[in-house]
Formats: sequence, structure tokens, C-alpha cells
Amino acid sequence: MALVTTLRRLVQNSLREYSRKASAVTWPTKQRSFSIGTQPLRSDNKVTINFINRDGEKITVKGLPGDSLLDVVINEDLDFDGFGACEGTLACSTCHLIFDEEMYKKLGPITDEEMDMLDLAYGLTDTSRLGCQICLTKSLEGMVARVPESVADIRQTKDGSS
Ligand code: FES
Repeated sequence: MALVTTLRRLVQNSLREYSRKASAVTWPTKQRSFSIGTQPLRSDNKVTINFINRDGEKITVKGLPGDSLLDVVINEDLDFDGFGACEGTLACSTCHLIFDEEMYKKLGPITDEEMDMLDLAYGLTDTSRLGCQICLTKSLEGMVARVPESVADIRQTKDGSS
């Protein structure tokens, strides 16, 4: 009889232990429900850009790493008159932006095609780049990109329609 009682207690203890472990196993499921909480972390991966528009006003927006500055202007619906006329096909130079020297060095190499198009940009400086050719990375966080006072669209000049 003592053996039966001992076995019964052993089974009950095992069941309690199993039940306790089973409830512990549900924790990861509960933690999964918090996975929505990672969304803000993803948005934290965005890069902050400060545009200075043609009127000298500062406009702060965010863009995803990999997006070009032209993508950011379009996605944020920024109203920079004439900006990005060729939609990033390196045929206009209307996406001309000016950076400070420190940021300019971080922008990466410039291609011959971009250089050729930049030569036609209005108000060219030593730290000018084309916004459609600059892709965001976290190292560009907080960049300041100045939109020149005026814009020159080489395609209109070629047509003689400017
Ligand atoms: S949008 Fe035309 S060259 Fe960049």
C-alpha cells in the first residue's frame, strides 16, 4: 500500500512539474506578441536629413537606408521647385545639392557620369553632388543638404525652351 501511495505522489509531482514547465513554455508565445514592439526600432534605423530649401528654411525628414536623396524628396513630398526632373536618370542636374565639407567626404565616390552632369548644374560648388546619386546610410545621419537658390535643367537648355 505504501508503494502505491509513493507511486501516486510521484505521478502527482511529475504532473505538477509537467504543468509548471508547460506554462513556462507559453512564455515565448507571449513574447512573440510583443514583436510588434520592434517596429519602432526599425524606424529608428531611418536616417535624419536636414534640407535647406531655396528660401533658406530648414526641413527635417527621415529616409530609409538605401534610398537616394531624390527618393526622400519624393517620398516626403517636399516642394523643391524643379527638383528631380529626370527622375534619377542622370539627365538633368536639377537634383543638385550642396553639402558641408565634412559630409561631402562621407558621400562616397562620384562617377564620371555624375561629374559630367554636375558640370551643368547652376551654382556648382566644390561640395556639390546630385541627390539622385546619393544613397542613405546610417553614417549620413543628421546630414544637411542645401538646395541651391536656382536650378538649371540641361534638357530645357538643349531644347532652347528655358
Ligand atoms: S534627377 Fe536628374 S540628374 Fe538627378
